[in-house]
Amino acid sequence: MTSQHQPDDMTKQVQVAPAGELPPGQRKLVFVDGRSIVLFNIDGALHAIDNSCPHNGASLANGRLEGSILQCPAHGLRFDLAKSCEPGSASLCLRRFQLREEEGSLMLLVESSTAP
Ligand code: FES
Repeated sequence: MTSQHQPDDMTKQVQVAPAGELPPGQRKLVFVDGRSIVLFNIDGALHAIDNSCPHNGASLANGRLEGSILQCPAHGLRFDLAKSCEPGSASLCLRRFQLREEEGSLMLLVESSTAP
């Protein structure tokens, strides 16, 4: 199932890499508008998260991955990339971005401008 999210005034699509650079089982670190974002391809499912652990800001780019479970290298908290965080959940939530493949490119949906 693919979700079609059209960019609006608040969001924009950014081409971050050729799709071939993120085959299944791989991850890739990209930088968009000063943000560090980690891309994952887990058995063909694409995920994009902010490269900052919600616990204390450690980089998640080199976290251990078992299936869809990413473990923060700093203190070991585990996050399931395949599940979205429930609003009001007591657990810490990753900051996620929509990522999809479009005409051979990886397209990331981000906020249009963070500059004051
Ligand atoms: S900074 Fe990630 S678990 Fe503490």
